[in-house]
Amino acid sequence: MPVEDQPAPAVDPAHRPADGDPLLRARLDGLREQGLLRSLRTIDGPVGPRVRVDGRELLHLCGNDYLGLAGHPAVREGAAAAALAHGGGAGSSRLVAGTLTIHRELEERLAELKGTGAAILFGAGFLANLGVVGALAEKDGVVLSDALNHASIVDGVRLSGAERVVYRHGDPEHVDRELRARPGRPALVVTDGVFSMDGDVAPLAELVAVCRRHGARLVVDEAHATGCLGPRGAGSVAAAGLEGEVDAVVGTLGKALGSSGAYVAAHPDVVEWLVNRARPLIFSTAPAPATSGAALAALDVLAAEPGRTARLRARAALARDTLRGAGVDLAVPGIDPAAVDPGSPIVPVVVGGAEETMAATAELLEAGILLQGIRPPTVAPGTCRLRLTVQADHDEDELRAACLRVAAAVRGRVAR
Ligand SMILES: Cc1ncc(COP(=O)(O)O)c(C=O)c1O
Repeated sequence: MPVEDQPAPAVDPAHRPADGDPLLRARLDGLREQGLLRSLRTIDGPVGPRVRVDGRELLHLCGNDYLGLAGHPAVREGAAAAALAHGGGAGSSRLVAGTLTIHRELEERLAELKGTGAAILFGAGFLANLGVVGALAEKDGVVLSDALNHASIVDGVRLSGAERVVYRHGDPEHVDRELRARPGRPALVVTDGVFSMDGDVAPLAELVAVCRRHGARLVVDEAHATGCLGPRGAGSVAAAGLEGEVDAVVGTLGKALGSSGAYVAAHPDVVEWLVNRARPLIFSTAPAPATSGAALAALDVLAAEPGRTARLRARAALARDTLRGAGVDLAVPGIDPAAVDPGSPIVPVVVGGAEETMAATAELLEAGILLQGIRPPTVAPGTCRLRLTVQADHDEDELRAACLRVAAAVRGRVAR
């Protein structure tokens, strides 16, 4: 039973908040009993292929800093220089007085990378998705969202007030059927480009065709595609040759670009609409200059060293080959193996049960490998997994050895 549905303990009128929260404590205990309690792990120092946790150096196999840019000297310097030149914070929301030259500069660079006429920054990818879905959905319209879309899209759709249709994962025919059933209704289709927990790529060409046929808008979230796929690391839309065919592309700065924050890249009409209607943009302080400085430096590194993306993709293929060679089944329930990009840095190893997954994580931690188990509600019950992620800077021999260690850790624990 979900802990939220468990009966609440009786309320003691003498109880003070300073004494704790018995209801939440009981629920937290319930989560622990179900093997679903989550807690924060503290990393000491910059992230990279290796990280320090509790005084131990670990091989990092679960971050999203795919290109190794978060700790890159140029990116750190970019952040520091931006803070020195522009201050610690923007001091205001973008529309009031918080738009700084460095935001503009970064937006131009992102629009150029994505091949759109404009781009607009958001404080986080979560906020960008809330903003773009809320602003582009029509109140009397429908939003169609892939069943495995990120939580921020799910919440954006809920908040939008439009009719919500969750279509079968990666199934443009389902989208087509749902749109045909609603002729003349304004429609928005939203999909991850690369799915965050599964690593497969959305059928973008088919989705573009369906949307075009029905006059629907299409938004693609490239959080895990930018830097990892496509020419110049431009993402999944560019990889599919679909630049200019998608109404809005969402990207994050906190993953392959080694910074923090996010953006929407689109035609200037769309961006101007977002400036006027996207609530997480309008009612939130503009991004700190250091995050923009870091992202600008990361874009410079990406442009100067295109080999990083190629190296990342080669490491991802190496991880897949090694795991398979050690007998690990990389199939993910509900995912078409043909949609999995072998160069995608997200390599899920499905274990099944929460306890077994966390036992594998603990065993790997003992062996010097940080590979966090992923449990519901992030993934469906029964599909708990080790979401292994590869970085361009992983040493090949170390990565190979770590994958063999992962294979050993899941052996005997995978649900049949
Ligand atoms: C597909 C996807 N979209 C959006 C986000 C949110 O981005 P951010 O971390 O910048 O809030 C994430 C992950 O965090 C993600 O995986």
